[in-house]
Amino acid sequence: MPGFFPLGRPARMAVMASGRGTNLEALLSAFLPGNPLGEVVLVLSDNPEAYALKRAERWGVEAVALPWRGRRAFEGEALALLEARRIDLVLLAGFMRLLSPGFVEAWYGRLLNIHPSLLPDYPGLHVHRRVLEAGEKETGSTVHFVDQGMDTGPIVLQGRVPILPGDTPEILERRVLFLEHRLYPKAVRLVLLGLAFPPPGEGELASWFLSLPPRERPLYVRVYALLQAWGKETLIPLAFQGRGGEWGRGAFLAAHLLAVVDTDHPALRQEVFTLPEEVRLRVEKALSRVESSP
Ligand code: GRF
Repeated sequence: MPGFFPLGRPARMAVMASGRGTNLEALLSAFLPGNPLGEVVLVLSDNPEAYALKRAERWGVEAVALPWRGRRAFEGEALALLEARRIDLVLLAGFMRLLSPGFVEAWYGRLLNIHPSLLPDYPGLHVHRRVLEAGEKETGSTVHFVDQGMDTGPIVLQGRVPILPGDTPEILERRVLFLEHRLYPKAVRLVLLGLAFPPPGEGELASWFLSLPPRERPLYVRVYALLQAWGKETLIPLAFQGRGGEWGRGAFLAAHLLAVVDTDHPALRQEVFTLPEEVRLRVEKALSRVESSP
């Protein structure tokens, strides 16, 4: 499996946040102690005043402020703490600093961020204002692996919301935030289950992934992971070309449904019933593992 997960034990997670921490709150309530997939055990902030730290304390989770005295000092302390607490996955949630290439490289594949736009569109700051000024009809949020660029890493999961006439940046921010509170925990579940990872950079399928638009790659990653988990790896290249038979169809149906956030696809759910029983059972199991995770 070209990734770090699944671990076969509950993952130990750290969240890094600079501000109010509503996404942190959603992650804390989704990954409580005893969750077999993983638990948030550490919250780090570069800002001692961050409300996120108070939220962590309220949940009884270790909260550490590392006041910003430059990137080198902050990252040195942060890396040491992540190691000391045996952290498996780091979640940036409203963390307002850019991490250095060394940090990002050390954690590549185990470092996620959430950004309030449909990446690769609108990276950076003041997203909602820019989206409105451009006259977009739809926006959303993206959970992605962090790479060395700003908001450029491989996408894990995206959610969409419509833009309505009369929307202001504030209204849009609130709508996107509500979405994010379900999107981020779901994306983390996909990562922990081994259903999302950065597409392979080498090997037979690397150029296939590169030929896809960034937003389509996560679907194929999930198909890849599912077929591998089902012991059907030889079908992967065929399935990618639409020649994977019923297993390929089952994997694509499951891969689509696994990414559903705030919407549903009743037509696809119905189609699952038309699969041969052996395939259908695997699809249903994959879906229930993500959808009914605590
Ligand atoms: C979220 O919109 C997130 O996408 C962005 O920063 C905001 C953080 O909000 N990276 P909160 O601190 O989680 O409430």
